[in-house]
Amino acid sequence: MKRIQIINGPNLNLLGKREPTVYGNQTFEAYFLDLISKFPEAEFEYFQSNTEGLIIDKLHEVGFSCDGIVLNAGAYTHTSIAIADAIRSITTPVIEVHISNVFKRETFRHHSYMSEACKGCIVGFGLDSYRLAVDAILQF
Ligand code: DQA
Repeated sequence: MKRIQIINGPNLNLLGKREPTVYGNQTFEAYFLDLISKFPEAEFEYFQSNTEGLIIDKLHEVGFSCDGIVLNAGAYTHTSIAIADAIRSITTPVIEVHISNVFKRETFRHHSYMSEACKGCIVGFGLDSYRLAVDAILQF
């Protein structure tokens, strides 16, 4: 059974309440239940933090043992060389996801420090971006 870790970064704990026109009305907790029910052949863990160092610690903790990591680093995507270095330091492949199409938004969202370190990126499909990332991991 493949083991998949989902990591959400800052402000993603407020999904459902936060800017619903951009991020939708669903909480991640509700979406997560849907997601795990779609993939009985996989085992999922979910972690969210608003703190850069805790995201790095989680990558170190799971990044040599699980089969795939789905990472939405939130705004750290555009600022964090430290998270990008953590992705490069581990052996588990990481898929970068974004709910919104960052390329349709402010220019500061067009650059990602994560992308070069990740196996691939899925951007702009709403919460379904996570499902697409899991599909990709299950093909590895
Ligand atoms: C986001 C896009 C980021 O630019 C933003 O800071 C987020 C969410 C997304 O999923 O669309 O917090 O990663």
